[in-house]
Amino acid sequence: MTTSTTAPPRADSELVGRLRADLRSAGYTVDGVSALLGPLAGAALDREQTLPAQRVTADADSPVGTLVRLFTLGDAVDEAEAGAALPTLGVTGALDLGLVTLQGPGVVATCDLRPYGDEQHEWWVASDLSELATRQPLREDHVLGIGGASTTLASWTPRPQVDRALDLGTGCGVQALHLGAHARHITATDISERALAYARFNALLNEVEWELRAGSMLEPLVGERFGLIVSNPPFVITPRRAGVPLFEYRDGGASGDTIVADLVRSIGEHLEPGGIAQFLGNWEIVGDADWRDRVRGWVAGTGLDAWVVQRELQDPAQYAETWARDGGHHSATAEFASMYAAWLDDFASRGVTAIGFGVITLQRPASDREPFVCLEEATGRVAAPMGPAVLEGLRARTWLAEHSDDDLLAVAWRCAPDVTEERHGRPGADDPSVILLRQGGGLGRTVRLDTAMAAFASVCDGDLTAGQALTAIASLLDVPADELRASALPVIRELVAGGLLVR
Ligand SMILES: C[S@@+](CC[C@H](N)C(=O)[O-])C[C@H]1O[C@@H](n2cnc3c(N)ncnc32)[C@H](O)[C@@H]1O
Repeated sequence: MTTSTTAPPRADSELVGRLRADLRSAGYTVDGVSALLGPLAGAALDREQTLPAQRVTADADSPVGTLVRLFTLGDAVDEAEAGAALPTLGVTGALDLGLVTLQGPGVVATCDLRPYGDEQHEWWVASDLSELATRQPLREDHVLGIGGASTTLASWTPRPQVDRALDLGTGCGVQALHLGAHARHITATDISERALAYARFNALLNEVEWELRAGSMLEPLVGERFGLIVSNPPFVITPRRAGVPLFEYRDGGASGDTIVADLVRSIGEHLEPGGIAQFLGNWEIVGDADWRDRVRGWVAGTGLDAWVVQRELQDPAQYAETWARDGGHHSATAEFASMYAAWLDDFASRGVTAIGFGVITLQRPASDREPFVCLEEATGRVAAPMGPAVLEGLRARTWLAEHSDDDLLAVAWRCAPDVTEERHGRPGADDPSVILLRQGGGLGRTVRLDTAMAAFASVCDGDLTAGQALTAIASLLDVPADELRASALPVIRELVAGGLLVR
Protein backbone atom coordinates (compact mmCIF):
# COMPACT_ATOMS: atom_id res chain seq x y z
CA MET A 1 0.00 0.00 0.00
CA THR A 2 1.23 3.53 -0.75
CA THR A 3 0.98 5.38 2.55
CA SER A 4 0.81 9.07 3.34
CA THR A 5 3.93 10.90 4.36
CA THR A 6 2.27 13.23 6.86
CA ALA A 7 0.39 12.26 10.01
CA PRO A 8 -3.24 13.31 10.58
CA PRO A 9 -3.70 16.32 12.91
CA ARG A 10 -3.46 15.72 16.65
CA ALA A 11 -6.58 15.80 18.78
CA ASP A 12 -5.19 18.14 21.45
CA SER A 13 -8.19 19.73 23.13
CA GLU A 14 -6.50 22.96 24.18
CA LEU A 15 -5.00 23.70 20.75
CA VAL A 16 -8.14 22.54 18.94
CA GLY A 17 -10.18 24.94 21.10
CA ARG A 18 -7.97 27.80 19.91
CA LEU A 19 -8.30 26.68 16.31
CA ARG A 20 -12.10 26.63 16.67
CA ALA A 21 -12.09 30.16 18.08
CA ASP A 22 -9.97 31.40 15.16
CA LEU A 23 -12.07 29.68 12.48
CA ARG A 24 -15.20 31.12 14.03
CA SER A 25 -13.89 34.68 14.34
CA ALA A 26 -12.54 34.57 10.76
CA GLY A 27 -16.03 33.73 9.49
CA TYR A 28 -14.66 30.53 7.95
CA THR A 29 -18.16 29.15 7.42
CA VAL A 30 -19.99 27.79 4.36
CA ASP A 31 -21.70 31.17 3.89
CA GLY A 32 -18.51 33.13 4.60
CA VAL A 33 -16.54 31.17 1.99
CA SER A 34 -19.25 31.34 -0.66
CA ALA A 35 -19.62 35.11 -0.12
CA LEU A 36 -15.86 35.47 -0.61
CA LEU A 37 -15.62 33.23 -3.68
CA GLY A 38 -18.81 34.34 -5.40
CA PRO A 39 -20.87 32.09 -7.67
CA LEU A 40 -18.34 31.68 -10.49
CA ALA A 41 -15.33 30.60 -8.42
CA GLY A 42 -17.56 28.60 -6.06
CA ALA A 43 -19.11 26.63 -8.91
CA ALA A 44 -15.70 26.10 -10.54
CA LEU A 45 -14.38 24.71 -7.25
CA ASP A 46 -17.32 22.31 -7.12
CA ARG A 47 -16.14 21.10 -10.53
CA GLU A 48 -12.63 20.68 -9.03
CA GLN A 49 -11.20 23.73 -10.81
CA THR A 50 -9.17 25.90 -8.45
CA LEU A 51 -7.98 28.71 -10.71
CA PRO A 52 -10.98 31.07 -10.34
CA ALA A 53 -10.83 30.65 -6.54
CA GLN A 54 -7.08 31.31 -6.59
CA ARG A 55 -7.68 34.54 -8.54
CA VAL A 56 -10.39 35.71 -6.14
CA THR A 57 -8.43 34.93 -2.99
CA ALA A 58 -5.03 36.17 -4.23
CA ASP A 59 -5.96 39.76 -3.33
CA ALA A 60 -8.40 39.02 -0.53
CA ASP A 61 -6.67 40.57 2.41
CA SER A 62 -8.78 38.81 5.02
CA PRO A 63 -8.42 35.88 7.43
CA VAL A 64 -11.12 33.94 5.55
CA GLY A 65 -9.25 34.44 2.26
CA THR A 66 -6.02 33.18 3.82
CA LEU A 67 -7.80 30.15 5.31
CA VAL A 68 -9.33 29.26 1.92
CA ARG A 69 -5.92 29.49 0.22
CA LEU A 70 -4.24 27.47 2.93
CA PHE A 71 -6.76 24.74 3.74
CA THR A 72 -8.99 24.46 0.66
CA LEU A 73 -6.73 25.28 -2.25
CA GLY A 74 -3.52 23.87 -0.75
CA ASP A 75 -1.53 27.02 -1.61
CA ALA A 76 1.46 28.30 0.34
CA VAL A 77 0.75 31.47 2.33
CA ASP A 78 3.11 33.87 4.10
CA GLU A 79 3.82 32.96 7.68
CA ALA A 80 2.66 36.42 8.78
CA GLU A 81 -0.64 36.03 6.91
CA ALA A 82 -1.18 32.57 8.41
CA GLY A 83 -0.47 34.03 11.84
CA ALA A 84 -2.99 36.82 11.25
CA ALA A 85 -5.66 34.30 10.16
CA LEU A 86 -5.01 32.12 13.24
CA PRO A 87 -4.37 34.74 15.94
CA THR A 88 -5.17 32.56 18.93
CA LEU A 89 -3.57 29.35 17.72
CA GLY A 90 -0.64 30.99 15.96
CA VAL A 91 1.58 29.31 13.40
CA THR A 92 3.38 27.54 16.24
CA GLY A 93 0.12 26.02 17.46
CA ALA A 94 -0.85 25.02 13.90
CA LEU A 95 2.56 23.34 13.47
CA ASP A 96 2.15 21.62 16.83
CA LEU A 97 -1.32 20.33 15.86
CA GLY A 98 0.06 18.98 12.58
CA LEU A 99 -2.14 21.19 10.41
CA VAL A 100 0.65 22.96 8.53
CA THR A 101 4.29 22.67 7.74
CA LEU A 102 6.91 25.34 6.93
CA GLN A 103 7.86 25.65 3.29
CA GLY A 104 10.47 28.25 2.38
CA PRO A 105 9.25 31.62 3.64
CA GLY A 106 5.67 30.40 3.94
CA VAL A 107 3.43 27.71 5.36
CA VAL A 108 1.45 25.01 3.60
CA ALA A 109 -1.36 22.89 4.96
CA THR A 110 -0.80 19.21 5.60
CA CYS A 111 -4.54 18.53 5.54
CA ASP A 112 -7.72 19.88 4.02
CA LEU A 113 -9.94 21.76 6.48
CA ARG A 114 -13.26 23.14 5.30
CA PRO A 115 -16.47 24.50 6.67
CA TYR A 116 -19.49 22.28 6.15
CA GLY A 117 -23.06 22.42 7.41
CA ASP A 118 -26.72 21.63 7.12
CA GLU A 119 -29.74 23.86 7.71
CA GLN A 120 -29.14 23.91 11.47
CA HIS A 121 -25.40 23.35 11.93
CA GLU A 122 -22.04 24.79 11.03
CA TRP A 123 -19.13 22.39 11.23
CA TRP A 124 -15.52 22.11 10.05
CA VAL A 125 -14.15 18.91 8.57
CA ALA A 126 -10.49 17.97 8.27
CA SER A 127 -9.39 15.26 5.84
CA ASP A 128 -6.39 14.49 3.67
CA LEU A 129 -5.47 17.06 1.05
CA SER A 130 -7.16 16.34 -2.27
CA GLU A 131 -5.17 15.70 -5.44
CA LEU A 132 -6.08 19.23 -6.51
CA ALA A 133 -4.06 20.56 -3.62
CA THR A 134 -1.15 18.09 -3.80
CA ARG A 135 -1.15 17.88 -7.62
CA GLN A 136 -0.23 14.20 -7.13
CA PRO A 137 -2.20 10.93 -7.35
CA LEU A 138 -3.64 10.00 -3.98
CA ARG A 139 -2.00 7.56 -1.57
CA GLU A 140 -3.85 4.32 -0.92
CA ASP A 141 -4.49 5.23 2.73
CA HIS A 142 -6.01 8.59 1.70
CA VAL A 143 -8.78 9.83 4.00
CA LEU A 144 -11.50 11.29 1.85
CA GLY A 145 -13.11 14.65 2.51
CA ILE A 146 -16.76 15.34 1.81
CA GLY A 147 -17.65 14.20 -1.68
CA GLY A 148 -20.73 13.66 -3.79
CA ALA A 149 -21.41 10.23 -2.29
CA SER A 150 -21.11 11.60 1.26
CA THR A 151 -23.69 14.32 0.60
CA THR A 152 -25.97 11.91 -1.28
CA LEU A 153 -26.08 9.59 1.72
CA ALA A 154 -26.50 12.49 4.16
CA SER A 155 -29.41 13.78 2.07
CA TRP A 156 -31.17 10.40 1.82
CA THR A 157 -30.76 9.37 5.45
CA PRO A 158 -34.07 9.07 7.31
CA ARG A 159 -33.57 10.81 10.64
CA PRO A 160 -35.84 9.52 13.38
CA GLN A 161 -34.78 10.23 16.97
CA VAL A 162 -32.80 7.18 18.07
CA ASP A 163 -30.90 6.14 21.14
CA ARG A 164 -27.95 4.48 19.34
CA ALA A 165 -26.71 5.16 15.81
CA LEU A 166 -23.80 3.70 13.87
CA ASP A 167 -21.70 5.21 11.08
CA LEU A 168 -19.90 2.29 9.45
CA GLY A 169 -16.76 3.33 7.56
CA THR A 170 -16.84 6.82 9.03
CA GLY A 171 -13.77 8.25 7.27
CA CYS A 172 -13.49 11.86 8.42
CA GLY A 173 -16.81 11.47 10.29
CA VAL A 174 -19.20 13.39 8.03
CA GLN A 175 -22.18 11.05 8.54
CA ALA A 176 -21.54 10.96 12.28
CA LEU A 177 -21.77 14.77 12.36
CA HIS A 178 -25.25 14.57 10.82
CA LEU A 179 -26.29 11.75 13.18
CA GLY A 180 -25.57 14.04 16.15
CA ALA A 181 -28.78 15.94 15.41
CA HIS A 182 -31.01 12.95 16.22
CA ALA A 183 -29.04 10.20 17.97
CA ARG A 184 -28.15 10.17 21.66
CA HIS A 185 -25.11 7.92 21.29
CA ILE A 186 -23.01 7.54 18.14
CA THR A 187 -20.59 4.74 17.30
CA ALA A 188 -18.33 5.27 14.31
CA THR A 189 -16.08 2.56 12.89
CA ASP A 190 -13.39 2.33 10.26
CA ILE A 191 -10.70 -0.12 9.22
CA SER A 192 -8.29 2.79 8.79
CA GLU A 193 -6.52 4.14 11.89
CA ARG A 194 -5.71 7.21 9.83
CA ALA A 195 -9.43 7.82 9.16
CA LEU A 196 -10.20 7.31 12.84
CA ALA A 197 -7.54 9.89 13.77
CA TYR A 198 -9.25 12.42 11.48
CA ALA A 199 -12.64 11.49 12.93
CA ARG A 200 -11.28 11.99 16.46
CA PHE A 201 -9.91 15.41 15.49
CA ASN A 202 -13.19 16.44 13.80
CA ALA A 203 -15.30 15.32 16.76
CA LEU A 204 -13.15 17.45 19.07
CA LEU A 205 -13.17 20.44 16.71
CA ASN A 206 -16.98 20.30 16.48
CA GLU A 207 -17.44 19.61 20.22
CA VAL A 208 -19.28 16.30 19.76
CA GLU A 209 -18.64 12.84 21.20
CA TRP A 210 -18.42 9.62 19.22
CA GLU A 211 -17.37 6.17 20.26
CA LEU A 212 -14.71 5.31 17.67
CA ARG A 213 -13.91 1.68 16.90
CA ALA A 214 -11.26 0.19 14.64
CA GLY A 215 -12.09 -2.91 12.62
CA SER A 216 -13.38 -4.32 9.40
CA MET A 217 -17.08 -3.91 8.54
CA LEU A 218 -19.24 -5.51 11.29
CA GLU A 219 -16.37 -7.22 13.15
CA PRO A 220 -16.02 -4.62 15.92
CA LEU A 221 -19.79 -4.67 16.61
CA VAL A 222 -20.47 -8.23 17.74
CA GLY A 223 -23.71 -8.44 19.75
CA GLU A 224 -24.56 -4.75 19.36
CA ARG A 225 -27.77 -3.28 18.01
CA PHE A 226 -28.66 0.16 16.76
CA GLY A 227 -31.78 2.16 15.94
CA LEU A 228 -30.10 3.60 12.83
CA ILE A 229 -27.09 2.47 10.82
CA VAL A 230 -25.68 4.51 7.96
CA SER A 231 -22.81 3.63 5.70
CA ASN A 232 -21.15 5.01 2.63
CA PRO A 233 -19.14 1.80 2.43
CA PRO A 234 -16.09 1.10 0.27
CA PHE A 235 -18.40 -0.19 -2.46
CA VAL A 236 -16.33 0.48 -5.57
CA ILE A 237 -15.91 -2.70 -7.60
CA THR A 238 -12.16 -3.05 -8.12
CA PRO A 239 -10.14 -5.56 -10.14
CA ARG A 240 -7.84 -7.60 -7.91
CA ARG A 241 -4.81 -7.10 -10.13
CA ALA A 242 -1.31 -5.66 -9.75
CA GLY A 243 -1.15 -2.04 -10.90
CA VAL A 244 -4.67 -1.13 -9.79
CA PRO A 245 -4.40 0.93 -6.59
CA LEU A 246 -6.41 -0.41 -3.68
CA PHE A 247 -7.66 2.81 -2.16
CA GLU A 248 -8.89 2.17 1.35
CA TYR A 249 -11.57 4.86 1.03
CA ARG A 250 -13.37 3.15 -1.85
CA ASP A 251 -12.36 -0.49 -1.88
CA GLY A 252 -13.33 -2.97 0.82
CA GLY A 253 -10.96 -5.66 -0.43
CA ALA A 254 -13.57 -8.05 -1.85
CA SER A 255 -14.25 -9.08 -5.41
CA GLY A 256 -17.20 -7.77 -7.46
CA ASP A 257 -20.09 -6.38 -5.42
CA THR A 258 -19.57 -8.79 -2.50
CA ILE A 259 -18.96 -6.07 0.07
CA VAL A 260 -22.44 -4.58 -0.36
CA ALA A 261 -24.11 -7.99 -0.72
CA ASP A 262 -22.52 -9.14 2.56
CA LEU A 263 -23.56 -5.95 4.30
CA VAL A 264 -27.19 -6.41 3.23
CA ARG A 265 -27.15 -10.08 4.32
CA SER A 266 -25.60 -9.47 7.72
CA ILE A 267 -26.75 -6.04 8.91
CA GLY A 268 -30.06 -7.34 10.32
CA GLU A 269 -28.49 -8.76 13.47
CA HIS A 270 -27.29 -5.24 14.35
CA LEU A 271 -30.69 -3.60 14.05
CA GLU A 272 -33.10 -3.16 16.92
CA PRO A 273 -36.73 -4.06 16.09
CA GLY A 274 -37.94 -1.13 13.98
CA GLY A 275 -34.32 -0.11 13.37
CA ILE A 276 -33.25 1.24 9.97
CA ALA A 277 -30.04 0.74 7.98
CA GLN A 278 -29.16 2.74 4.92
CA PHE A 279 -26.18 2.46 2.59
CA LEU A 280 -25.02 3.40 -0.83
CA GLY A 281 -23.90 0.63 -3.11
CA ASN A 282 -23.04 -0.68 -6.53
CA TRP A 283 -24.43 -3.90 -7.95
CA GLU A 284 -23.35 -5.88 -10.95
CA ILE A 285 -25.80 -6.72 -13.71
CA VAL A 286 -24.85 -9.95 -15.42
CA GLY A 287 -25.91 -10.51 -19.02
CA ASP A 288 -29.44 -9.21 -19.52
CA ALA A 289 -30.59 -10.03 -15.98
CA ASP A 290 -32.74 -7.53 -14.10
CA TRP A 291 -30.84 -5.70 -11.31
CA ARG A 292 -33.85 -6.23 -9.08
CA ASP A 293 -33.34 -10.00 -9.10
CA ARG A 294 -29.77 -9.65 -7.90
CA VAL A 295 -30.60 -7.25 -5.08
CA ARG A 296 -33.75 -9.21 -4.17
CA GLY A 297 -31.47 -12.23 -3.78
CA TRP A 298 -29.32 -10.34 -1.24
CA VAL A 299 -32.37 -9.37 0.80
CA ALA A 300 -34.07 -12.80 0.61
CA GLY A 301 -34.08 -14.61 3.91
CA THR A 302 -32.86 -11.64 5.97
CA GLY A 303 -36.35 -10.96 7.37
CA LEU A 304 -35.74 -7.25 6.66
CA ASP A 305 -37.94 -4.77 4.86
CA ALA A 306 -36.08 -3.40 1.88
CA TRP A 307 -36.56 -0.31 -0.24
CA VAL A 308 -33.87 0.00 -2.87
CA VAL A 309 -33.71 2.84 -5.38
CA GLN A 310 -31.42 2.51 -8.37
CA ARG A 311 -30.22 6.01 -9.22
CA GLU A 312 -27.70 5.38 -12.00
CA LEU A 313 -26.61 2.75 -14.44
CA GLN A 314 -23.18 2.66 -16.09
CA ASP A 315 -21.74 0.30 -18.63
CA PRO A 316 -18.38 -1.33 -17.78
CA ALA A 317 -16.41 1.22 -19.83
CA GLN A 318 -18.06 4.20 -18.12
CA TYR A 319 -17.43 2.60 -14.74
CA ALA A 320 -13.78 1.87 -15.62
CA GLU A 321 -13.24 5.46 -16.78
CA THR A 322 -14.74 6.90 -13.59
CA TRP A 323 -12.68 4.81 -11.22
CA ALA A 324 -9.42 4.65 -13.18
CA ARG A 325 -9.46 8.47 -13.23
CA ASP A 326 -10.48 8.82 -9.56
CA GLY A 327 -7.49 9.36 -7.35
CA GLY A 328 -5.68 11.66 -9.75
CA HIS A 329 -4.74 9.49 -12.75
CA HIS A 330 -4.90 11.22 -16.12
CA SER A 331 -6.53 9.51 -19.05
CA ALA A 332 -3.60 10.09 -21.41
CA THR A 333 -1.21 7.88 -19.39
CA ALA A 334 -0.20 4.24 -19.91
CA GLU A 335 -1.10 3.64 -16.26
CA PHE A 336 -4.68 4.75 -16.94
CA ALA A 337 -4.93 2.51 -20.01
CA SER A 338 -3.70 -0.49 -18.02
CA MET A 339 -6.23 0.18 -15.24
CA TYR A 340 -9.01 0.68 -17.79
CA ALA A 341 -8.19 -2.71 -19.32
CA ALA A 342 -8.08 -4.34 -15.88
CA TRP A 343 -11.61 -3.13 -15.11
CA LEU A 344 -12.93 -4.32 -18.48
CA ASP A 345 -11.28 -7.74 -18.00
CA ASP A 346 -12.64 -8.03 -14.47
CA PHE A 347 -16.23 -7.29 -15.54
CA ALA A 348 -15.92 -9.55 -18.60
CA SER A 349 -14.74 -12.44 -16.37
CA ARG A 350 -18.13 -12.37 -14.61
CA GLY A 351 -20.24 -11.51 -17.66
CA VAL A 352 -21.09 -8.06 -16.23
CA THR A 353 -22.83 -5.82 -18.74
CA ALA A 354 -23.79 -2.91 -16.48
CA ILE A 355 -23.29 -1.60 -12.97
CA GLY A 356 -26.10 -0.08 -10.95
CA PHE A 357 -25.67 2.52 -8.23
CA GLY A 358 -28.28 3.27 -5.67
CA VAL A 359 -29.51 3.72 -2.14
CA ILE A 360 -30.41 0.68 -0.05
CA THR A 361 -32.72 1.23 2.90
CA LEU A 362 -33.48 -1.71 5.18
CA GLN A 363 -35.69 -1.97 8.22
CA ARG A 364 -36.08 -4.68 10.80
CA PRO A 365 -39.84 -5.14 11.29
CA ALA A 366 -40.96 -4.31 14.81
CA SER A 367 -43.74 -6.93 14.66
CA ASP A 368 -44.04 -10.50 13.46
CA ARG A 369 -45.09 -9.93 9.83
CA GLU A 370 -43.96 -10.55 6.28
CA PRO A 371 -41.28 -8.05 5.28
CA PHE A 372 -41.92 -5.78 2.31
CA VAL A 373 -39.46 -5.50 -0.56
CA CYS A 374 -39.63 -2.58 -2.96
CA LEU A 375 -37.05 -2.21 -5.73
CA GLU A 376 -37.43 0.73 -8.06
CA GLU A 377 -35.58 3.06 -10.39
CA ALA A 378 -35.54 6.84 -10.00
CA THR A 379 -32.93 8.56 -12.07
CA GLY A 380 -34.35 12.08 -12.04
CA ARG A 381 -34.19 14.92 -9.53
CA VAL A 382 -35.39 14.06 -6.06
CA ALA A 383 -36.22 16.14 -3.00
CA ALA A 384 -33.27 17.63 -1.13
CA PRO A 385 -32.99 16.56 1.59
CA MET A 386 -34.60 13.27 0.61
CA GLY A 387 -34.45 11.75 4.12
CA PRO A 388 -37.89 13.01 5.30
CA ALA A 389 -39.54 11.37 2.25
CA VAL A 390 -37.59 8.15 2.91
CA LEU A 391 -38.83 8.09 6.50
CA GLU A 392 -42.42 8.81 5.40
CA GLY A 393 -42.13 6.13 2.71
CA LEU A 394 -40.90 3.56 5.22
CA ARG A 395 -43.76 4.43 7.57
CA ALA A 396 -46.34 4.22 4.78
CA ARG A 397 -45.03 0.84 3.57
CA THR A 398 -44.91 -0.42 7.16
CA TRP A 399 -48.55 0.60 7.63
CA LEU A 400 -49.50 -1.18 4.38
CA ALA A 401 -47.62 -4.33 5.46
CA GLU A 402 -49.45 -4.33 8.77
CA HIS A 403 -52.97 -3.64 7.45
CA SER A 404 -55.50 -5.53 5.37
CA ASP A 405 -57.40 -4.33 2.30
CA ASP A 406 -60.43 -3.73 4.54
CA ASP A 407 -58.32 -1.48 6.80
CA LEU A 408 -57.14 0.41 3.73
CA LEU A 409 -60.71 0.89 2.50
CA ALA A 410 -61.73 2.22 5.92
CA VAL A 411 -59.28 5.15 5.74
CA ALA A 412 -60.30 8.60 4.48
CA TRP A 413 -57.15 9.27 2.42
CA ARG A 414 -55.97 12.70 1.41
CA CYS A 415 -53.83 13.70 -1.56
CA ALA A 416 -50.47 14.87 -0.18
CA PRO A 417 -49.97 18.65 -0.39
CA ASP A 418 -47.27 18.32 -3.07
CA VAL A 419 -49.49 16.36 -5.48
CA THR A 420 -50.92 17.98 -8.61
CA GLU A 421 -53.02 16.61 -11.43
CA GLU A 422 -52.24 17.01 -15.12
CA ARG A 423 -54.71 16.32 -17.91
CA HIS A 424 -53.81 15.99 -21.57
CA GLY A 425 -56.25 15.62 -24.42
CA ARG A 426 -56.60 16.01 -28.15
CA PRO A 427 -57.57 19.57 -29.13
CA GLY A 428 -61.35 19.88 -29.02
CA ALA A 429 -61.84 16.55 -27.21
CA ASP A 430 -64.39 16.56 -24.38
CA ASP A 431 -62.43 14.15 -22.22
CA PRO A 432 -58.72 13.96 -21.49
CA SER A 433 -56.85 10.99 -22.95
CA VAL A 434 -54.16 11.05 -20.25
CA ILE A 435 -54.56 11.92 -16.57
CA LEU A 436 -51.42 12.06 -14.47
CA LEU A 437 -50.84 12.57 -10.76
CA ARG A 438 -47.50 14.25 -10.14
CA GLN A 439 -45.59 14.38 -6.89
CA GLY A 440 -43.68 17.62 -6.30
CA GLY A 441 -41.35 16.25 -3.59
CA GLY A 442 -39.94 12.82 -2.71
CA LEU A 443 -38.92 10.81 -5.75
CA GLY A 444 -41.04 13.07 -7.97
CA ARG A 445 -43.28 10.19 -9.03
CA THR A 446 -45.79 10.36 -11.87
CA VAL A 447 -48.72 7.93 -11.79
CA ARG A 448 -51.11 7.55 -14.73
CA LEU A 449 -54.73 7.13 -13.68
CA ASP A 450 -57.80 5.91 -15.47
CA THR A 451 -61.09 7.80 -15.23
CA ALA A 452 -62.28 5.92 -12.15
CA MET A 453 -59.01 6.45 -10.23
CA ALA A 454 -58.86 10.10 -11.31
CA ALA A 455 -62.36 10.48 -9.85
CA PHE A 456 -61.11 8.72 -6.71
CA ALA A 457 -58.08 11.04 -6.38
CA SER A 458 -60.35 14.07 -6.84
CA VAL A 459 -62.35 13.14 -3.71
CA CYS A 460 -59.32 12.26 -1.55
CA ASP A 461 -59.62 15.21 0.83
CA GLY A 462 -59.90 13.29 4.10
CA ASP A 463 -63.70 13.30 4.09
CA LEU A 464 -64.91 10.03 2.54
CA THR A 465 -63.27 6.70 3.30
CA ALA A 466 -61.75 4.90 0.30
CA GLY A 467 -64.56 2.33 0.51
CA GLN A 468 -67.30 5.00 0.48
CA ALA A 469 -65.62 6.88 -2.39
CA LEU A 470 -65.25 3.74 -4.53
CA THR A 471 -68.91 2.73 -3.96
CA ALA A 472 -70.07 6.19 -5.07
CA ILE A 473 -67.77 6.20 -8.12
CA ALA A 474 -68.90 2.69 -9.13
CA SER A 475 -72.53 3.81 -9.08
CA LEU A 476 -71.69 7.00 -11.03
CA LEU A 477 -69.78 5.05 -13.71
CA ASP A 478 -72.29 2.22 -13.62
CA VAL A 479 -69.71 -0.52 -12.93
CA PRO A 480 -69.88 -3.30 -10.28
CA ALA A 481 -68.52 -1.93 -6.98
CA ASP A 482 -66.58 -5.12 -6.11
CA GLU A 483 -64.81 -5.06 -9.48
CA LEU A 484 -63.84 -1.43 -9.03
CA ARG A 485 -62.59 -2.12 -5.49
CA ALA A 486 -60.45 -5.04 -6.75
CA SER A 487 -58.84 -2.96 -9.50
CA ALA A 488 -58.48 0.12 -7.27
CA LEU A 489 -56.75 -1.56 -4.31
CA PRO A 490 -53.32 -2.09 -5.95
CA VAL A 491 -53.38 1.48 -7.28
CA ILE A 492 -54.29 2.90 -3.86
CA ARG A 493 -51.51 0.81 -2.30
CA GLU A 494 -49.05 2.20 -4.87
CA LEU A 495 -50.19 5.78 -4.19
CA VAL A 496 -49.92 5.31 -0.42
CA ALA A 497 -46.49 3.64 -0.64
CA GLY A 498 -45.25 6.40 -2.93
CA GLY A 499 -46.45 9.15 -0.60
CA LEU A 500 -49.10 10.57 -2.96
CA LEU A 501 -51.92 9.58 -0.61
CA VAL A 502 -51.57 10.20 3.10
CA ARG A 503 -53.75 9.55 6.13
C1 LIG B 1 -16.38 5.97 0.84
S1 LIG B 1 -15.56 6.21 2.36
C2 LIG B 1 -16.86 6.94 3.31
C3 LIG B 1 -16.39 7.98 4.27
C4 LIG B 1 -17.51 8.77 4.94
N1 LIG B 1 -18.32 7.93 5.78
C5 LIG B 1 -18.39 9.48 3.93
O1 LIG B 1 -19.60 9.27 3.94
O2 LIG B 1 -17.86 10.24 3.13
C6 LIG B 1 -15.49 4.55 2.96
C7 LIG B 1 -14.82 4.40 4.32
O3 LIG B 1 -14.81 2.99 4.64
C8 LIG B 1 -13.56 2.67 5.21
N2 LIG B 1 -13.30 1.24 4.98
C9 LIG B 1 -12.68 0.65 3.94
N3 LIG B 1 -12.66 -0.68 4.10
C10 LIG B 1 -13.30 -0.93 5.25
C11 LIG B 1 -13.61 -2.11 5.96
N4 LIG B 1 -13.27 -3.30 5.50
N5 LIG B 1 -14.25 -1.99 7.14
C12 LIG B 1 -14.62 -0.78 7.63
N6 LIG B 1 -14.35 0.38 6.99
C13 LIG B 1 -13.70 0.30 5.82
C14 LIG B 1 -12.57 3.58 4.53
O4 LIG B 1 -11.41 3.74 5.30
C15 LIG B 1 -13.39 4.86 4.37
O5 LIG B 1 -13.21 5.70 5.47
